[in-house]
Formats: sequence, structure tokens, C-alpha cells
Amino acid sequence: MSEPRKLFVKSFGCQMNVYDSRRMADVMAPSGFAETDGPEGADVIILNTCHIREKAAEKIYSEIGRLRVLKQEAAAAGRNVTIAVAGCVAQAEGEEIVRRAPAVDIVVGSQNYHRLPEMVARVKDGAKNGTKIVDTNFPVEDRFDALPTPKRETIRSRGIAAFVTVQEGCDKFCTFCVVPYTRGAEVSRPVEKIAEEVTRLAEGGVREITLIGQNVNAYHGTGRDGREWPFGKLMHRLADIPGIARIRYTTSHPNDMEASLIEAHRDLPALMPYVHLPVQSGNDRVLDAMNRRHTRADYLVVIERLRAARPDIVFSSDFIVGFPGETEAEFRDTLSLVEEVGFASAYSFMYSPRPGTPAAEMDGQIAEGEKSERLQRLQAVINRHQKAFNAATLGRTLDVLLERPGRHAGQIVGKTPYMQAVQVMAPAAMIGEVVPVTITGLGTFSLFGTLAQNAAVPEPLDA
Ligand code: SAH
Ligand code: SF4
Ligand code: F3S
Repeated sequence: MSEPRKLFVKSFGCQMNVYDSRRMADVMAPSGFAETDGPEGADVIILNTCHIREKAAEKIYSEIGRLRVLKQEAAAAGRNVTIAVAGCVAQAEGEEIVRRAPAVDIVVGSQNYHRLPEMVARVKDGAKNGTKIVDTNFPVEDRFDALPTPKRETIRSRGIAAFVTVQEGCDKFCTFCVVPYTRGAEVSRPVEKIAEEVTRLAEGGVREITLIGQNVNAYHGTGRDGREWPFGKLMHRLADIPGIARIRYTTSHPNDMEASLIEAHRDLPALMPYVHLPVQSGNDRVLDAMNRRHTRADYLVVIERLRAARPDIVFSSDFIVGFPGETEAEFRDTLSLVEEVGFASAYSFMYSPRPGTPAAEMDGQIAEGEKSERLQRLQAVINRHQKAFNAATLGRTLDVLLERPGRHAGQIVGKTPYMQAVQVMAPAAMIGEVVPVTITGLGTFSLFGTLAQNAAVPEPLDA
């Protein structure tokens, strides 16, 4: 057998891309490609890109600039390197990428990854003529069936926590956002396909799954009974799979927090009490201009319903500052919303005009200096809440899923239900277990804890 050729896949952007990158590696494996962890020496390099903000998109071109040098050096040594651009920049910019960056051989949209092996082969055959392939169509066939479910070998290397795609695309068309254009219309994967993948993951040692989708709680896949199942019902099906101790999901939209999901938070201990629920702004006029279709009050009602169902639930969110026309007073409504909800953590971004989106054409674009000043103020409030939340865990005993060896000998890194990393002194044999850990210290990036007295006695999971 010939030496396996080397494939390097680099992910940018959201978890969907991380997951898709794994699937691209899976689809290339039968053509003799083994994954490597750096671009040096790779025969095929795939950049799985993000278009969400201008900076994210521009980063790709500087990355390609670096790879071009690698490609030239390899060519001088008589070796071909194929560079492919996948993901949302590929979808949004298509042929423009090849024009702007001639080192790129393949541009492949997010619905066409199953054709990668054939594209790579065609580029290799046509290397002398400089063959370029651009394929960013949205195919009519089933988007999820186009790629195999992950192979057992790749599952083994995935560790204790894994992502599972349940839904793709978005029909919401927030006026600032490229996702409906780059990922297309919303589609849900059938219940049993997801259950099959989760079963395989669990057999491979995975204990925690994070269900992912651009609008994950808009889920409405077909169930065993041929009917559309809401997200909460899917949760019940997955929580029954042996070995699955924890379920998370991201990213959800406030308008899709339907009753079955809220009830699942009440009824399923495995469903973690930590929800990422982007709100973007705390001001109703701005929310309306963003086409979010919910008010500040609507958002707060959703938070209250979830808290009523699961009193220990906490939230994280996404915010945009400096949306066109946002006044100082409107911005302060965002600050006050953070104070009111008290998020355990949050991401915040300066509004970035994206070509083709309605907000990019709106009057009242805010100056960069103003946006960055608002961002700093918002981040200061968010950080204060995050610190307070972490500090409140000091002295408490929390269920921790032990995930992997820590930095120091004898240490294991685990996660609390609230996504906080904890360093715990524990035997490596306990990796994969959920154990009660008493939080004894607060570090910059993680908490420190010790196994609680009763750690040897199996505890009910996340009671
Ligand atoms: N589907 C998710 C997340 C989409 S992208 C949702 O509906 O919330 C992740 C985050 O990027 C968004 O929540 C938003 O806060 C931010 N974002 C999206 N477009 C942006 C833009 N044009 N400028 C700045 N931030 C943006
Ligand atoms: Fe973008 Fe809005 Fe869809 Fe989220 S809900 S992906 S922010 S359009
Ligand atoms: Fe970026 Fe595309 Fe995800 S634009 S955030 S990679 S859906």
C-alpha cells in the first residue's frame, strides 16, 4: 500500500464548522488521506471558513497568504499541495476567492463536502493546467445524508464530549447576519439518524453531547412515528441512550424556546442547566431594526419560564454593540439587561456591516471608535458578572464530568454543569465519570476542586 497522503483541516468560526471539519476528514479517509495537525507537509489543506464579521473573513486571506509560500516551497521540491476553501466565506464569495487568491485550487460550499475527494482528484490530474474548481450550489438531495455518520476510529479520538449536528441553516434573517445566505434554509435531521450517531458516540466512550445547529431549538425532525418532533421530545429520546450523562445544545433563539424544551429542562437531569440564549440588544427599537421579532420583555419571559422549570439554570448570551442608529441611551438598555439577567458569561461584538445584508445599507452607521468604546463598557459589565458567578461556586460541591488529563501530573480537567473548567486531583481511571467536586479555588481560566468525600459512592447524575 502507498503511504497515506496528508490532510490538514483548519476550522474557523462556530461549532458547526468544527463538526463539519471532522466530517470532511471522514469523507477524505477512504481516498487514502490521514489527518495531520499542521499545514507543513500536508498534501491537501482545507480552510473551513467563517464570514460572520469582516475580521473573520479577512483572516482567511492572510492565512492563504502564508499557505501560498508553503505551496511554492513544496512545488520547488516537486510536491503538489492542494488548497481548498470551504465553509461560509466559500459560500458567500465563491469564484471571487480564486480571483483574489490564485493559490486556492478548490472553493467548496457547505453543502458539497461529499464531493471533496473527487474535486481533489480532478485538481491533482489537472495540476499542470492549473485546474480550479468552484462548487457552491445548494443541492436538492438530503444535506445530512451527503456525508457519512462519523466512523468508529474518529469517534475514539473524540474523547468524552462531542458535538452532534441536529439542524442546519436559518430562516430568521436578522438584518445584520450572513448565516441565512451562507447556510441556506433551515432543515432538521431525522430523530433516528441523530440517535444512531449518539449511540455510536456513547459506545466510543462519549458521555456528553452538545447538539448543534444555527437555530438548534427550531428543530422539527421526523420521528419514528413519521411525525415532526419538537426539540424537547428529541431530548427525551437521546437522554435514554445508555452512557449519555449530559446533554447540551447551542445556539438557540428566544422565539423557539417551545414548551417541550422547557419541560425537558424540568424533567431531564441530563439536560444541563446552562443555556446559550443570544439576545443581541436590550432595546426594543434596536431589536426591531435587527428583525429579531422579540422584545426585551419577551426575552425576560423566556428566562423566567426556564428558571421556573429548572431553578439552578444559568444563561450566556451574544450581544452586538453599535448596530446602525443605536443611540447612547439604547446602548444603555443593553447594559441594564446584562445587570437584570446576570449572565454567567457572554460574547459581545462590534457590529460589522456584511455585504448583502439589510443592516449594511441602513443609515446611521456608527463610527468604529464609538463601537469600540461601547464594547469595552459592555465587556466590563459582563466580566463583573462572570467573575461573580465563578466566585459564587467557591465552597460549593458541583457535579463534574472528568474529561482529560490536566496540565500537572495527577490532575484531571473536568467541567461543571455550567461549563466551567475545573482542575481536580483524581486518578486517570476516573476520566469519563461524573463526580461531586468541592470548589476550593478560582484561577484565571479554570476553577480548582477536590473530590468530595462521597466520591467513591456513585451519585445520581446531576441531581
Ligand atoms: N445562530 C446564532 C448565532 C449566529 S452568529 C443566533 O441566532 O444567535 C453568532 C453571533 O455573532 C451572533 O449571535 C451575533 O451576536 C454575532 N454576529 C452576527 N452577525 C454579526 C455582525 N454582522 N456583526 C457583529 N456581530 C455579528
Ligand atoms: Fe443569524 Fe439571526 Fe439566524 Fe442567528 S437567528 S443565525 S443571528 S439570522
Ligand atoms: Fe461563521 Fe458560518 Fe458559523 S459565518 S459563525 S462559520 S455559520
